[in-house]
Amino acid sequence: MLKGKISGNKIRLVRRSFEIVGDVVIIEIPDEIMHIKDLIVEAILKKHKHVKTILRKTGEVNGVFRIAKYEVIYGKETETIAKEHGCRFLVDPTKVYYSVKLSGERERIAKQVKDGEKVLVMFAGVGPYPIVIAKLAKPKVVIGIELNPKAVEYFRKNVELNKVSDVVRVYEGDVKEMLLKINERFDRVLMPAPHSAEEFVYLVKDKIKVGGIVHYYTFASQNDEEKLPKVVKKIFEEEDMKVEILKVKECGSFAPYVNRYVVDLKVVDISD
Ligand SMILES: C[S@@+](CC[C@H](N)C(=O)[O-])C[C@H]1O[C@@H](n2cnc3c(N)ncnc32)[C@H](O)[C@@H]1O
Repeated sequence: MLKGKISGNKIRLVRRSFEIVGDVVIIEIPDEIMHIKDLIVEAILKKHKHVKTILRKTGEVNGVFRIAKYEVIYGKETETIAKEHGCRFLVDPTKVYYSVKLSGERERIAKQVKDGEKVLVMFAGVGPYPIVIAKLAKPKVVIGIELNPKAVEYFRKNVELNKVSDVVRVYEGDVKEMLLKINERFDRVLMPAPHSAEEFVYLVKDKIKVGGIVHYYTFASQNDEEKLPKVVKKIFEEEDMKVEILKVKECGSFAPYVNRYVVDLKVVDISD
């Protein structure tokens, strides 16, 4: 769409892909071509007529709440409703973590959930994993724990919006503290915090049933992918859990040659 409007050198710097969250577009525009941002905005609006706001990503996902930095380059309102798998998620990408790119992964997990399961989602964000699971499967209960108060606010609203309050329970706080208050064991535990999941593995020991499934997310360089089963097995063994690795799957990229991986594993034994 920009061909003929800007020189070949500059067109190479324009990102071919961008994320669309509801009616908000998130795009990276390198400094060198910021002077043609209006042309980029115009092209996006021409192709995606429903778009109300365009955010330029100015900093990578960072901090405990895992939020990137953005500047608004078109429109004003940054809150929007994203749709996935028949669910609706009220989010503001400038205040909470939410990634459209993980929607396929959420469906993959939901399809594994058996009728009547008790599911624990640590690091629940605005609730996409708990809510998609509640909508696509028939769990008995899904508990989601989240630290970012703004994400919890959206999580609560999203539970109402998607009419899953009979199944999904929202806990606000640090998983390390909140899990002390939850005296149950779960059939399935999700750990979707790839930057730091390892430091929370010790919590799983008292929360998973023997025979239960854990979905452990982590970042790793492509070169280390083969070693992941051994590495993750050891992390769990060090916390007294004997595990059987069921699957290692790439589910997105984080940086050049560094991917997000999910490791599905079964806890086959727990020792004291
Ligand atoms: C990578 S995001 C994933 C959010 C959500 N599961 C999703 O897929 O959209 C990780 C989330 O964990 C939350 N978090 C970080 N440390 C936490 C902790 N100690 N206890 C609970 N939540 C935490 C962050 O605020 C963030 O929302």
